[in-house]
Amino acid sequence: MIQLEAIRKDYQRRGQILTAFACESQQIEDGEYVAIVGPSGSGKTTLLSMLGGMLSPTTGRVLVDGISLYEHSVAERSAIRGQKMGFVFQSFNLIPYLSALQNVQVPLSFTTTSASEQLERATEMLTQLGLAERLHHKPSELSVGQQQRVALARTLVNDPQIILADEPTGNLDPTSREVVLEIFEQCHQQGRTLVVVTHDPSVAQRATRRLTLVDGMLVRAEDASSNASPQVAAA
Ligand SMILES: Nc1ncnc2c1ncn2[C@@H]1O[C@H](COP(=O)(O)OP(=O)(O)OP(=O)(O)O)[C@@H](O)[C@H]1O
Ligand SMILES: [Mg+2]
Repeated sequence: MIQLEAIRKDYQRRGQILTAFACESQQIEDGEYVAIVGPSGSGKTTLLSMLGGMLSPTTGRVLVDGISLYEHSVAERSAIRGQKMGFVFQSFNLIPYLSALQNVQVPLSFTTTSASEQLERATEMLTQLGLAERLHHKPSELSVGQQQRVALARTLVNDPQIILADEPTGNLDPTSREVVLEIFEQCHQQGRTLVVVTHDPSVAQRATRRLTLVDGMLVRAEDASSNASPQVAAA
């Protein structure tokens, strides 16, 4: 379970303080599939980064399975993240001089997985995402949508219990998008927790709960079973 307690994130720029996200209390249960929606600049990436242990809040606490992430050192926090979470960045963060296959093997290289199994799992994941013919391409030799799928493969290859994804379908054609959504659905059925930031109404629709952000505030937490149509703002 992920819990937010009295969270606020301020950015300071040229003496001005901008509150990018604030929330009294919110929790995401194990096995939930949550979509975070809202206009550009509303604080979605800020929120997701705090959930993922990558951005410390100005005040408040983020607890993952009862562990307060930001009360640990950076090293302890990355260890917790490595054990429990996978993060897909909006900007992919692929390593430019490594091939697709090597990029996907990176998270496995920090585990006890043998080299041959690393290779096998990375190949399988990339194949599942339609990239069997692109294993040895470097990020610069891939289209943006292909880079996005490599980033997703890198996240999923480690079987994380919690998957945090920032616009994971933003650059994909309808077919690849469907592949990604099916993988998310499988992950959901396997009992994993998914938190997905998206501008895409069809992605938000597949989640079981939507959190809508406007100007850094959660405006409503709507349940998928309700009849209200989700208000997904355009980018
Ligand atoms: N490092 C920073 N310094 C100052 N302001 C920042 C910083 N990072 C983000 N912001 C501001 O915080 C607000 C929230 O940014 P955030 O990236 O969370 O938005 P977002 O909802 O993810 O937008 P998008 O849909 O465009 O990705 C924005 O107004 C942004 O300009
Ligand atoms: Mg963003």
